[in-house]
Amino acid sequence: MRNIDIVGVVGAGAMGRGIAQIAAQAGITVRLFDMQEQAVASARDALQAVWKRQVEKQRMSADEADAALQRVVPCGKLEDMADADLIIEAVVERLDVKGELFRKLEGIVGADCILASNTSSLSITAIASACEDPTRVVGYHFFNPVPLMKVVEVIDGVRGDPRHGDVLMELARRMGHTPVRAKDMPGFIVNHGGRGMNIEGLKAAQECVAPFPVIDAIMREQAGFRMGPFELMDLTGLDVSHPVMESIYQQFYDEPRFRPSPITAVRVAGGLLGRKTGEGFYRYPEGQKAVEAEASAPALPASLSVWVAPYHSTGHRRAAALLRELGVEPVTSEVPPRDALIVVTPYGEDIATVVADYQLDARRTVALDTFFGLETGKRRVVMCSAATLPEWRDAAHALFAKDGSPVSVIADSAGFIGQRVVAAIINVACDIAQQGIATPEDIDLAISLGLGYPGGGPLSLGDTLGAAHVLDILRGMLRTTGDMRYRSSLWLQRRVQLGMSLRELPVAG
Ligand SMILES: NC(=O)c1ccc[n+]([C@@H]2O[C@H](COP(=O)([O-])OP(=O)(O)OC[C@H]3O[C@@H](n4cnc5c(N)ncnc54)[C@H](O)[C@@H]3O)[C@@H](O)[C@H]2O)c1
Repeated sequence: MRNIDIVGVVGAGAMGRGIAQIAAQAGITVRLFDMQEQAVASARDALQAVWKRQVEKQRMSADEADAALQRVVPCGKLEDMADADLIIEAVVERLDVKGELFRKLEGIVGADCILASNTSSLSITAIASACEDPTRVVGYHFFNPVPLMKVVEVIDGVRGDPRHGDVLMELARRMGHTPVRAKDMPGFIVNHGGRGMNIEGLKAAQECVAPFPVIDAIMREQAGFRMGPFELMDLTGLDVSHPVMESIYQQFYDEPRFRPSPITAVRVAGGLLGRKTGEGFYRYPEGQKAVEAEASAPALPASLSVWVAPYHSTGHRRAAALLRELGVEPVTSEVPPRDALIVVTPYGEDIATVVADYQLDARRTVALDTFFGLETGKRRVVMCSAATLPEWRDAAHALFAKDGSPVSVIADSAGFIGQRVVAAIINVACDIAQQGIATPEDIDLAISLGLGYPGGGPLSLGDTLGAAHVLDILRGMLRTTGDMRYRSSLWLQRRVQLGMSLRELPVAG
């Protein structure tokens, strides 16, 4: 495999600078060019400051810092990059600009120089089509900030030579990054795999299942994510997230799983972009997120009999075990006694459907989400239908908060909140695998490193939570809502049917 000694980086903005940093730290000579000369000078100054701090923190010796800086060579014109083994462009996100840049570079660099694009949303094949030799064009998608985000997607265009991709995989490892390999499909792996969270969170909000902060708290404290969808969108900014949602939806020809929400369109129009404008889904007085304190749990009635519906065996077992831990022996009669709180534990269905299917007393029925387990301290989610009486809602809230665990009470929803968002994330990841966009291993790596999702990535998370349960949830949601966005990926369905892990490739290869 050929060695890369000299890399030309075109575009000295946030991304170009980060790529130059990790390349120079790995001992590679970097030729840095930007159409604004000042951008190159300020990038080099910024790198000098970064390395100075590294020396102060004793992460680098002064000699190493000096050598790294010497390796970053400012270029006044593209021709100064003629000897590069590889060019990485990180210029403005425009197909015409990137195509023209590569066409120009083909007249400057050697015939075996690889041309890599850091695009996050354009087709590598489309960029390559501007070139005389499209086989040498590869996607090299780093994340911001490059030195901290340790994953990079290597994308093969349809006319790309995979040997060039192999070289970039090796180079990424040399620079201390984890490379993953993807086909040229919209969003590649990470921006494709990130669809489920925001889109399903928005859908739940649009159905008035719960306010934004409650949805976020459930995703963090029940499902184990670092951030909920609204916190994440506030961080990224709706000026970025909303067009990406629209673009991926259009690029997949109106795939219902990616259908965006009018909620974000309206908020963009109103300028509620997120932290950067001081208000998004949250307000940020003096830069700090303002969140109202949660109301404390109501008082537990002196006596309460509880009947747990047996319709979902896992749900029933988990709910009954929790009740015993909380000191309440569930009533075991076949039908609920007249004076008991009725607890159902659906996977994917709403309460109204369960009530109608089993002819339950809707006024006394609440649902408990058991999918993520019910350990003390983990947020518990209680769902009420439009017919649940407030006294039974409060009794259930008080009961499930008895050991001090936080409880969210939400409105009726097919798949609660955690179930529906996590099932959407796992389903999208399964479909990335089904489409052969990347291997299961790379899907998990890319999404856990690129998005910080828990559980070792969505496919591993699906295995841990139980792929059959995830399929149950999706089928329940599809049956309840009739919305095709909830149809399960064939990857998920077949692996459940065959008793295989979501991470397993076909045994015959
Ligand atoms: N910022 C991110 O979070 C992020 C993440 C992944 C990928 N990307 C991709 O990386 C690329 C750069 O993003 P950024 O955030 O660093 O942008 P940026 O605006 O900070 O920097 C772009 C730089 O490119 C220069 N430039 C523009 N056209 C040029 C040309 N024709 N020739 C030479 N220089 C030119 C500009 O002067 C500017 O300094 C984009 O394609 C973007 O989609 C960005």
